[in-house]
Amino acid sequence: MSRKRILSGMRPTGRLHLGNLHGALKNWVELQDSGNYECFYFVADWHALTSDYASTEQIRSYTLDMIVDWLSVGLDPEKSTIFIQSRVKEHAELFLLLSMITPISWLERNPAYKEMRAELTDRDLSTFGFLGYPVLQAADIIMYKAYGVPVGVDQLPHVELTREIARRFNFLYGGEVFPIPEALLTTVPKVLGIDGRKMSKSYENAIYLRDRGADLKKKVESMFTDPQRMTKKDPGRPELCNVFTFHGIYSPEQDVKEIETECRRAGIGCVECKRRLADRIIDGLRPIHERQDHYLGHMDEVRGIIEEGSSRAAAVARATMEEAREAVKI
Ligand code: TRP
Ligand code: SF4
Repeated sequence: MSRKRILSGMRPTGRLHLGNLHGALKNWVELQDSGNYECFYFVADWHALTSDYASTEQIRSYTLDMIVDWLSVGLDPEKSTIFIQSRVKEHAELFLLLSMITPISWLERNPAYKEMRAELTDRDLSTFGFLGYPVLQAADIIMYKAYGVPVGVDQLPHVELTREIARRFNFLYGGEVFPIPEALLTTVPKVLGIDGRKMSKSYENAIYLRDRGADLKKKVESMFTDPQRMTKKDPGRPELCNVFTFHGIYSPEQDVKEIETECRRAGIGCVECKRRLADRIIDGLRPIHERQDHYLGHMDEVRGIIEEGSSRAAAVARATMEEAREAVKI
């Protein structure tokens, strides 16, 4: 029996951080290693253009950095197809076909669209491309007839729209060209930024996969803790402390238990607690950093992986487009 196919992508809008690692990438790697799925993972560089069309200088370097980091966290080109969206021109063609059948009202009422427009006030997002963001995403997904799309909650509206667009295509052109994909919701530990807000590049509160040694330590030292714990003598509340959440991810269970007890009885201070965490994170990221060093020193290998993945993806995309054109009779 053939394995079910899953697909997911990320926009190359900056360096990857621990939020991306724990919120998405670990899950991607697990799905890959389970052996139950045929995985397609791609860099959505055209999607980056929808909001960053006026400043494109970094898109290429972010794309390469992103793939280096994907490989470093354990995505394996022997098991997964790793590619770049703009290398597979069929995405643009399917986007065009889908744009013919997608009612504008579906796009305008999309909550992700409304939120983004309200948030990104420093640029003009009244463009056709930005409104069409989910149509391009739908093309990405159904191109590979993906059964599942591993995403976080923020992407649910996009997957829902994809389902509606796929159904509409099938309805208008007969038959079952496109299976209706499912969102595979990732439930993850909530890792916050060093200031306690959602970890995000724009908040400047992120710990990056490229951060190391002294830089990393400094960030961990500046992490917010239980806000009511003013001095070492005050008992702390680990359940309200982001440092503690990180210990839960990076420290052995025994230590986590000890920190919990000691924090509550004011037996350990935050400075010491963070020092221990920094060491744990450094240890935890070591294998990732070692692979990063390898790939950064062998960029030809990375380019080869992208080449190979993109041509594998393109072969699937070409076959799908033949069916799609046939259905549309164009
Ligand atoms: N919109 C996604 C994000 O911002 C990126 C993306 C583009 C995507 N195409 C996709 C995710 C297809 C899953 C499937 O994270
Ligand atoms: Fe948080 Fe650790 Fe300080 Fe407790 S001791 S409040 S867990 S940083």
